Amino acid sequence: MSVHVVEHPLVHDALVTLRDARTQPEVFRRMAVRISLLLAAEATRDLPASPVTVQTPLAPAEGRRVSADVVVVPVLRAGLGMLDAILELIPGARVGHIGLQRNESTAVASQYYARFPDNLPSAYVVLVDPMLATGGSAVAALAVLKAAGASNIRIVCIVAAPDGVALVERLHPDVDIYTPVIDKSLNAQKYIVPGLGDFGDRLYGTV
Ligand code: PRP
Ligand code: URA
Repeated sequence: MSVHVVEHPLVHDALVTLRDARTQPEVFRRMAVRISLLLAAEATRDLPASPVTVQTPLAPAEGRRVSADVVVVPVLRAGLGMLDAILELIPGARVGHIGLQRNESTAVASQYYARFPDNLPSAYVVLVDPMLATGGSAVAALAVLKAAGASNIRIVCIVAAPDGVALVERLHPDVDIYTPVIDKSLNAQKYIVPGLGDFGDRLYGTV
């Protein structure tokens, strides 16, 4: 597995706004879209493309069109804040959903929903979940995806913690992680520190 730490200044500009406790849901949602677009562009650098020729007003020009069958899988609920950005980049993508909820006292994730398109075994899968904390949700999502036939998977997140990265690395060494940052640690409640708080609550104003 490789962890790709995305250093683009625009990514980090959006990240610092997401981190800022004063940022209200309207701006938080906008920044979530902006950072997701930039991260998704980085995470899909290896997207298969086929050569094509088009006619410009002056002459034929060779180019490439994305030929991969892409499936984007947001982890509910917070991953939904990243979905539209990725569909903006890859409008032809299909979408699967996994519903996972961390228990507030144990931080153990339990699944309440899963629905995927039927092309998973041949698909280029982009799993999106903004927070990779203990990694429990990510490895649960990866296990469900692989049981459904997916094999070509990468994760895009917005803040990662060392524990989450290590767990994914140990259980799913074939999966690449794209993140702008690996924060210092988790607190006693398994929140990422400094992190940005509860992403889903800040996105939807449910604090
Ligand atoms: C958050 C986040 C991840 C998970 C990360 O979701 O979106 O799915 O926690 O934590 P982990 O790495 O320790 O599993 P949460 O369960 O709070 O649900 P929500 O998206 O509905 O807010
Ligand atoms: N989920 C969040 O939303 N934030 C964290 O810091 C950890 C899990």
